[in-house]
Amino acid sequence: MSKIGIFYGSTTGVTEDIANRIAEKLDGVEVYNISGNEDKLGDYDVLILGTSTWGFGDLQDDWQTALDSLSSLDLNGKKVAYFGTGDQVTFADTFIDGIAIIHEEIQNSGVTLVGETDIDGYDFGESRAVKNSKFLGLAIDEVNQSDLTDERIEAWTTELKKVL
Ligand SMILES: Cc1cc2nc3c(=O)[nH]c(=O)nc-3n(C[C@H](O)[C@H](O)[C@H](O)COP(=O)(O)O)c2cc1C
Repeated sequence: MSKIGIFYGSTTGVTEDIANRIAEKLDGVEVYNISGNEDKLGDYDVLILGTSTWGFGDLQDDWQTALDSLSSLDLNGKKVAYFGTGDQVTFADTFIDGIAIIHEEIQNSGVTLVGETDIDGYDFGESRAVKNSKFLGLAIDEVNQSDLTDERIEAWTTELKKVL
């Protein structure tokens, strides 16, 4: 059976909360703050990586620190899914850019991307996390659309279970 690890970076606790809510929907997953746990990424077959975005399109601080250690890990053959939290109204042109920054770092290291999602139902200008008209992963906006979060997590984890 695949070992699934969720690794989140969270400055004010929003992404941490989402990580735990995703974990509730998936059996047997372990959840880690990426800060101080970078070395554990290698222990899992499936990596579910979550981050918020700060500044204008900057990666969350702990993830930014962790990026260096990603390049020294052997990620070949792992499946990777992303979830991002952001604010599509105030930061309409950098919405959840953070997950794209992680993806751009590891996309050529032999990982398989799973869990892309439709952009329908969001209202933003631009996002680096949109590739081929889809988000690279689950997009969560607790500032403007928290009422949709439960159903988005439910739909995403249901799809993920089919490919993990
Ligand atoms: C100063 C500031 C800058 C932000 N920049 C962005 C941004 O560029 N893109 C985005 O989608 N969200 C942005 N956000 C929204 C946060 O990413 C969002 O509130 C997130 O859920 C926080 O998660 P965390 O507590 O796990 O770090 C910003 C928020 C603040 C306060």
